[in-house]
Amino acid sequence: MPEVAKLSYGDRQLDLPVHVGSEGEHAVDISKLRAETGLITLDEGYVNTGATSSAITFLDGETGILRYRGYPIESLAEHCDFLEVSYLLIYGKLPTAAELETFRSSILNHSMIHEDMRSFYNSVPRDAHPMAILASVVGAMSAFYQDSLDPQNPRHVEVAIHRLLAKLPTIAAYSYKKSVGQPFMYPQNDLSYCGNFLRMMFATPCEDYQIDPDYVRALDMLFIVHADHEQNCSTSTVRMVGSSNANLFASISAGICALWGPLHGGANEACVQMLEQILADGGNVKKYVDMAKDKKSGFRLMGFGHRVYKNYDPRAKIIKRQCDLLLSKLRIKDPLFHVAQELEEVALNDSYFIEKKLYPNVDFYSGVIYRALGIPVPMFTVLFALGRLPGWIAHWLEMQRSDSKRLCRPRQVYTGPTERPLVPLNERS
Ligand code: CMC
Repeated sequence: MPEVAKLSYGDRQLDLPVHVGSEGEHAVDISKLRAETGLITLDEGYVNTGATSSAITFLDGETGILRYRGYPIESLAEHCDFLEVSYLLIYGKLPTAAELETFRSSILNHSMIHEDMRSFYNSVPRDAHPMAILASVVGAMSAFYQDSLDPQNPRHVEVAIHRLLAKLPTIAAYSYKKSVGQPFMYPQNDLSYCGNFLRMMFATPCEDYQIDPDYVRALDMLFIVHADHEQNCSTSTVRMVGSSNANLFASISAGICALWGPLHGGANEACVQMLEQILADGGNVKKYVDMAKDKKSGFRLMGFGHRVYKNYDPRAKIIKRQCDLLLSKLRIKDPLFHVAQELEEVALNDSYFIEKKLYPNVDFYSGVIYRALGIPVPMFTVLFALGRLPGWIAHWLEMQRSDSKRLCRPRQVYTGPTERPLVPLNERS
């Protein structure tokens, strides 16, 4: 017998069906609520609201589990590369060797952007944030690639997906080159996805860049652990925009804007700035932990806490391990890594953080690796966007293909003035 939840409101009794997901998540279906009772629900920040059913990513915040299409994040990070994981997220299965080769070759061979798009960069100020440039140029893809805009045309959608995955690293690297006043480096298609990105970032026409396989592996791993995280703020934005049948480029551009905020992807940049501040202030981590506990200070520990994880973020564990490996292999002694470790130690033993179940999240250690790779701080959130791209695409696609797709359009409880007469301009005081 299907489960139901019972709601009584006034003299009415209503049976609400309960849906159960494949991992046991129970959800009350309120889709008939307003029609049958006149009621709507109110849930600021969607803390209790399931926006959709999805078969892409499972995460259990209580125990710290994250799986893409059923595969544990730890196995994917260890055994796959980023394009393999992108294929998995977008097409729903791990590729065979032949499928992966075809996919990889298509992505690697479409990495150049339309030549006229390069002039786009001339019109932005040199000190513009690279996330502003990234969102604008991805939005502008709708203008440059008008033959792949129709969300209902499977061929258009497939071409748009490949274009985005292929060109985002080029668009991102150009935004960095713009900020340092160096010539743009064209992509080189015989390189790996991450190797190509690093070369476009750091080579110049007068000096090539030696690609270190350890750097490539570290970047691949970082992209994999960022690749999807179910209905987070930017993914929900992509779905929301896509629900109006906006094209894929426009939807992804909106997702990039949502990611930029310091409570979401922008936290990696904010976290390193915080660690630098602590170091410059003498490395007194206790002082900053105390500040974070004091609501009046307005200060939060960046890279700590999560809406869903009430346990150690499994991505942070993987990144911390990689951080350790990379720094010791490169013989880098980064004082920020030590500050981060100390901060984690103090916070994890503090009753405020224990009671509120605040643990390091994905953004806590990622910045330390990016620094080791030579990535400048303003590019950190751009790298998050490169990693999250396949997740955004997978969710947009899942929604477009869903039989239950509807325009996302929440309701509200209006609290403004009730009807009042308009006073003509010359009679207002
Ligand atoms: N430092 C100090 N106190 C915190 C922190 C923190 N980082 N995070 C949460 N709290 C406290 C908060 O003050 C609140 O206390 P109280 O119940 O007494 O009012 C309680 O913990 C719950 O916090 P919340 O803001 O209601 O929780 P939320 O689920 O709305 O917010 C969060 C989640 C990620 C926005 C928040 O933990 C935060 O601001 N963290 C710092 C920013 C950050 O690292 N963001 C990256 C998130 S992971 C990557 C991603 O999603 O992009």
